[in-house]
Amino acid sequence: MADTSVEDLKQQFHAALDAARTPAALKALRDDYLGRKHGRVTALVKSIATAPPEDRRTLGAAANTLKQQIEQALKAREAGVAADARPADALDVTLPGRRGWTGRRHPLTQVRERVEDIFMAMGYQVIEGPEVEDDWHNFEALNMPAAHPARDMQDTLYLSSPVPAPDDGRAATLLRTHTSGMQIRYMEQHEPPVRIIAPGRVYRRDNFDATHTPMFTQVEGLVVDEDITLGDLKGTLNAFAEEFFDARVATRFRPSFFPYTEPSAELDVECQGCSGRGCPLCKQTGWIEILGCGMVHPAVFEAVGYDPDRYTGFAFGVGIERLALRLYGVDDIRMFYENDLRFLEQVAL
Ligand code: DAH
Repeated sequence: MADTSVEDLKQQFHAALDAARTPAALKALRDDYLGRKHGRVTALVKSIATAPPEDRRTLGAAANTLKQQIEQALKAREAGVAADARPADALDVTLPGRRGWTGRRHPLTQVRERVEDIFMAMGYQVIEGPEVEDDWHNFEALNMPAAHPARDMQDTLYLSSPVPAPDDGRAATLLRTHTSGMQIRYMEQHEPPVRIIAPGRVYRRDNFDATHTPMFTQVEGLVVDEDITLGDLKGTLNAFAEEFFDARVATRFRPSFFPYTEPSAELDVECQGCSGRGCPLCKQTGWIEILGCGMVHPAVFEAVGYDPDRYTGFAFGVGIERLALRLYGVDDIRMFYENDLRFLEQVAL
């Protein structure tokens, strides 16, 4: 008789639970069964005291089990209902879905990869090398011997201390000031034909201001074979600029000087900020310099054991930050290093 009432109560509870679909209905159900004063299970438990002594043990056990089952079932349902407790009329099914927040690669990484993709499509191999460099690869083999005034062009961060004097014979170690040393490293290990790019970080003793950072990123390029001409250099770099800036950009080559190329040039692209009319970004010139380039100097070939009478080649060095500034129309390089999400989210490619 006691068992039957427990079983009945259990069935009634489950029927009621099936029907309870709102938080209010669940609360009413909880009161009805587990309420301290009038709860049905509470009453059942209380009735144990007045049951015949021989029934008390079974009745007590059954009542307790039921109480626990009801408690658990209510909890589970309450959690489920709370999760979709929104009133039906608050759900506007015509609203677009909410997109989850996803991270993305840093703008400088995206620009570097864009440069790599363009050159890889032209058959170039991407190579990498050390940021801690020696004097030979960074300067000497690039036609900048110890006394060469061109070394003054670069403010170098030396790691060896004290810095060995030029005639000391000991090689200085330094943080590479450009990626051009990768030309030497590659040619020392490989015979022509050469068609490589070498992206990487470089370091200079510069201030941290709107146009300078003591660390920045370059992509070096080198092509060597028989019969490589200035025409190949111009065609390749124009193709690169058109691809990078989406075809509509005008370019010009300006004569320049680098010790490791002869002749040397710099490539300007029409300013993206003003379409060539002149603005603060291009210092009113209408043009923005994006890379240095030239035909590989015979002295460089000699340093790596290539025959300068047989081989010719061209080289170039692109500044990734510069490309990024132009591409995004940003006028302060520090933005790329502060990593403010409000900035980073705006400059996704
Ligand atoms: N190394 C130069 C720089 O740091 C860039 C450069 C100029 C690289 C001319 C080259 C080159 O390979 O031919 O600004």
